[in-house]
Amino acid sequence: MSPGSKSDDLDAFAEEFQRLFLEEAIKIYGERVVDLWRKPRNMVPLERPDGSARITGPCGDTMECFLEIEKGRITRATFVTNGCGPSIASGGAVTELAKGKTLEEALKIDQANVLDALGGLPGESAHCAKLAAMTLTEAVRDHLRQKD
Ligand code: FES
Repeated sequence: MSPGSKSDDLDAFAEEFQRLFLEEAIKIYGERVVDLWRKPRNMVPLERPDGSARITGPCGDTMECFLEIEKGRITRATFVTNGCGPSIASGGAVTELAKGKTLEEALKIDQANVLDALGGLPGESAHCAKLAAMTLTEAVRDHLRQKD
């Protein structure tokens, strides 16, 4: 198509729409959340994790967490989710928090820590951070059960 065509108009519209959507999302959720949402961190399943857990939250969304553990310390933490943008951000934040922690330290990571790492979430999305923290806790417990 030539310059100034309908295709160019559509591209310009799509770009403008995306820009407005981003602006609005940053107003609602903040820059950190939107960054972790658009460029997910550690969002990949692990084939042979040393501990893993899958939890479905009250909203119906599911998160799965995978851990690699060496000498009682988390060397890698990853997650997958079918949830909302804030759950993707929360999964990224909780796996970043978990990396390098001992199991005892990781068990102490809770919803408040995830919310802090995100710079907060709107009240109606706070449960997404809880889902991420709970999934990490269960993945650590799964590892501890395997050791018993
Ligand atoms: Fe379900 Fe966010 S709304 S995890």
